[in-house]
Amino acid sequence: MIIIRKHTILILLVLCFLFLSLSTAQVNYRTCNQTCGSSKPYPYPFGFSSDCGIRLNCTTDGGIFIGKFPVQEVTTDSIIVGIKAQCNRPFYTFHELFSHKYAPTSGNVIFVQNCSKTASSCTVPEAMVREYFDYSEDCREGSSLSCYFENNSTNKFLNKSILDGYGCGNFMSSICSENLRNNSGATVSLEVATIQLGWWLQGACQCSSDANCTEIESPVDRKPGFRCTCKEGFVGDGFLAGTGCTRIRDI
Ligand SMILES: *[C@@H]1O[C@H](CO)[C@@H](O)[C@H](O)[C@H]1NC(C)=O
Ligand SMILES: *[C@@H]1O[C@H](CO)[C@@H](O)[C@H](O)[C@H]1NC(C)=O
Ligand SMILES: *[C@@H]1O[C@H](CO)[C@@H](O)[C@H](O)[C@H]1NC(C)=O
Ligand SMILES: *[C@@H]1O[C@H](CO)[C@@H](O)[C@H](O)[C@H]1NC(C)=O
Ligand SMILES: *[C@@H]1O[C@H](CO)[C@@H](O)[C@H](O)[C@H]1NC(C)=O
Ligand SMILES: *[C@@H]1O[C@H](CO)[C@@H](O)[C@H](O)[C@H]1NC(C)=O
Ligand SMILES: *[C@@H]1O[C@H](CO)[C@@H](O)[C@H](O)[C@H]1NC(C)=O
Ligand SMILES: *[C@@H]1O[C@H](CO)[C@@H](O)[C@H](O)[C@H]1NC(C)=O
Repeated sequence: MIIIRKHTILILLVLCFLFLSLSTAQVNYRTCNQTCGSSKPYPYPFGFSSDCGIRLNCTTDGGIFIGKFPVQEVTTDSIIVGIKAQCNRPFYTFHELFSHKYAPTSGNVIFVQNCSKTASSCTVPEAMVREYFDYSEDCREGSSLSCYFENNSTNKFLNKSILDGYGCGNFMSSICSENLRNNSGATVSLEVATIQLGWWLQGACQCSSDANCTEIESPVDRKPGFRCTCKEGFVGDGFLAGTGCTRIRDI
């Protein structure tokens, strides 16, 4: 009997320990700092400290950045980043837009300069560039402008290695359009000097039962990833580790 009791106590202790470590894990999520300056809190999994699912940088004056680029907006499936037209920005800065949790989608046209080789599916009408970009005259001299567009419609993300293969010196800007491949005559909205990044969390789906899970194969490391979206009639981030989904009429 005594031996059994000891076992019971041991099991209880183990359970206790498990419970404790689980609650510390939860506390860790809560320590993710989701506010930057005077902004309203960013939704899970975004935040500004090391224990956030997707960490963005927050400057002392409240600017939010990925690399050197300002974040304009985060949505349920994308991060919108500003890419001011600039002719002397080194091409390697483009790599700052790729991480293990986000990457540029195929809904962007990338403008590059001084490339050693291009085999582009995209041509740059100089007049359009002059019209859309705030782009100084001296920039246009002595360097040719090229663009890259993901023409393989099975890909949801830009193929970085193809663009890297162009051997470009400068990353000039980007135009983002949700319906770039849709030439059905519908109005195409263009966001000039903007790039759209798709985001995901690593691993298998861990969404609320009231959310849909979108499985994503990371274009960076080919590992599985996912994103949650609350079903119609619900609001929230949709993630089990986040706030999940709340029925709209319960708010
Ligand atoms: C979160 O970070 C901001 C700026 O980085 C800071 O002002 C704020 O105090 C932090 N909040 C918490 C709860 O640590
Ligand atoms: C944030 O800044 C740090 C230090 O400059 C850098 O190492 C990190 O890559 C940056 N993260 C993002 C998302 O830009
Ligand atoms: C995409 O463009 C490249 C380069 O112009 C071309 O070689 C390739 O066949 C195109 N692919 C598709 C699917 O159109
Ligand atoms: C492009 O390359 C040429 C020759 O290497 C150089 O003279 C020019 O300044 C470069 N242009 C830009 C915008 O970097
Ligand atoms: C498009 O991309 C897919 C996946 O990366 C690949 O299997 C396919 O061969 C590509 N198609 C073309 C025409 O390059
Ligand atoms: C293209 O746009 C039309 C009209 O807005 C829409 O009905 C159609 O679903 C779109 N196709 C794709 C592939 O997005
Ligand atoms: C990018 O394109 C290259 C060459 O077409 C292909 O081998 C590679 O698998 C593609 N990468 C991704 C992430 O689609
Ligand atoms: C969730 O998935 C269901 C079934 O596939 C679909 O009918 C519904 O439109 C999806 N909802 C959202 C918000 O994506």
